[in-house]
Amino acid sequence: MSDMVLDNLSKQYVLKAGFFKQLSGKAGVVSAVDQVSFQMEEGEIVGLVGESGCGKTTLGKMLLKIEDITSGKAYIDGTDIAAVRGRKNILEFRKKVQMIFQDPYDSLDPKFTIREIVAEPLKSLKICQSAEEIHKRVEDTLRLVELTPVELYADRYPHQLSGGQRQRVAIARALVSNPEFIIADEPVSMLDVSLRAGVLNLLQKLNRERGIGVLLITHDLATARFLCNRIVVMYLGRFVEITDPSSLVEDAVHPYTQLLISSAPDLFADTSNRIKVEGEAASAVAPPQGCRFYPRCPYTRDICTREVPQLTEIKPRHFVACHKTSPDFIKAEAAR
Ligand SMILES: Nc1ncnc2c1ncn2[C@@H]1O[C@H](COP(=O)(O)OP(=O)(O)OP(=O)(O)O)[C@@H](O)[C@H]1O
Ligand SMILES: [Mg+2]
Repeated sequence: MSDMVLDNLSKQYVLKAGFFKQLSGKAGVVSAVDQVSFQMEEGEIVGLVGESGCGKTTLGKMLLKIEDITSGKAYIDGTDIAAVRGRKNILEFRKKVQMIFQDPYDSLDPKFTIREIVAEPLKSLKICQSAEEIHKRVEDTLRLVELTPVELYADRYPHQLSGGQRQRVAIARALVSNPEFIIADEPVSMLDVSLRAGVLNLLQKLNRERGIGVLLITHDLATARFLCNRIVVMYLGRFVEITDPSSLVEDAVHPYTQLLISSAPDLFADTSNRIKVEGEAASAVAPPQGCRFYPRCPYTRDICTREVPQLTEIKPRHFVACHKTSPDFIKAEAAR
């Protein structure tokens, strides 16, 4: 069983002095993840959704210690991630926590065969003692992700596979070490619809049978709704709404969540209460003061441009960060 706690977690990337500095006179700082807090329960599948560039992969990379945490804390299964230091401790940590990377073209080394790629964690994390054990475990895992017959795929190189097959190799590599927690970054984005359900069912099965905690990163609400116990909606580095999937679809409160739902036609038969939101996402280099969504929000009031809305529990287990849910805002609106 594995859970995750985020406590005011932030990541800022400092850009090299260059174009941005020439334009603005300042060093560019990307506020990729900004003070996010969340408590995942044991064995949950949590979906992290939001549009491109909102900080999903950055969050996953901090959890895996690929990126350093700028401030705040993150724990997996009670382990303070920032405190895991030294090669031996990092190896032990990686046995427990694995990531299915977003881009299987980038993340699979072209010089190695599929068998070598999937065997690598077993060797580097010193999980198996003998060559026979490695052989068996690799083949079992390739069968698990349905790269079968195994003999047909195991000795090929990544460029000899299709995008979807590579994605399954990336999944096999993450699963082979029997992790307790998986960060799955768009694990089905390159698969046909017919294969998607298979991979999602596999994640669900691992979660149910082995109690593996899953953080599913996706920009696709329909996928998150199908698989997750809870969904976290992220906008420009911040968490703006957290609730269970049915309430998110039927009862979304944050205007950004409503926008996401409006643009996912499969989720709604009734289109009458869709909202229209204009404009492009703001940049994480110079995010707006106050609510980061206000430049695109149809409900913007003065306070939205000044104060950061905090995540508030508006109903049991339903959290929203939007000024329009505050009693003062509602009173002022009624008096207008
Ligand atoms: N190494 C880096 N240096 C500077 N900025 C970065 C770096 N990596 C990511 N960023 C910036 O951080 C922000 C968040 O990026 P991230 O990759 O986490 O987004 P994402 O939500 O995963 O998007 P996508 O859905 O496109 O994968 C973006 O503005 C991105 O340009
Ligand atoms: Mg990403």
